[in-house]
Amino acid sequence: MDDSLDQFRDILRRTGNCLEELRQAGFVVIPREGSESNTGAGLGTQTSHPAESPPAAPPAEIKNPSLESLAHTVTGCRKCGLAGTRGKTVFGSGMVPAPVLFIGEAPGAEEDRQGLPFVGRAGQLLTKMLGAISLNREAVYITNVLKCRPPGNRDPLPDEVTQCEPYLLAQLQCVRPRLIVALGRHAAQTLLKTDTPIGRLRGCFHDYHGIPILPTYHPAYLLRNPAEKRKAWEDLKKVRAFLDQS
Ligand code: URA
Repeated sequence: MDDSLDQFRDILRRTGNCLEELRQAGFVVIPREGSESNTGAGLGTQTSHPAESPPAAPPAEIKNPSLESLAHTVTGCRKCGLAGTRGKTVFGSGMVPAPVLFIGEAPGAEEDRQGLPFVGRAGQLLTKMLGAISLNREAVYITNVLKCRPPGNRDPLPDEVTQCEPYLLAQLQCVRPRLIVALGRHAAQTLLKTDTPIGRLRGCFHDYHGIPILPTYHPAYLLRNPAEKRKAWEDLKKVRAFLDQS
């Protein structure tokens, strides 16, 4: 009996040492919290390599959060003026972890009403775009740069982006995508901190905090400019090829 207790203690000690070595090497350990769900609760006990995690630190209140507690923080967020005009916050939805993360600009009217990303007309096209490369919404993660709708769908203000981006960085730590797809000019230029036109950014792999990011046209833009769907299709094929190879 004593022997087996000693053996058990030895295993515990060696496991602890092993986890400590991983932590010192820069790996992040995320504790298990129940089963997986669309809000990301229950990420399981996982280690993620630093190359897959953004190095930038989110603010103290959302450091190493489960996605669920992060969503809770966002629901109560009053860091910018959008808190006074939004209907619902729109945190994000999909699988956690997910191989690919799609990032749009900001919620529109329907998203603001439902509290879910890309559920309006642009969202329906996004769902079709995913289907074209054999993905569905439950197999990816979808969110926006801003978690609240700007009134009248105006462009996000720099301060709104600054206040909201830490939430995105914290989401990345939970979702740990192998690839990010930036949907549209605003998401691409904001994340890449550039004013290069989307026509030049799209279709190429860039880097966002160590994660490859591929900008493409926003589905709302494609609804207005259907002739550009051909280029978006070229981009989507690169997403498929990336996922198949990595
Ligand atoms: N457009 C976006 O950029 N995001 C949404 O969630 C909906 C429309």
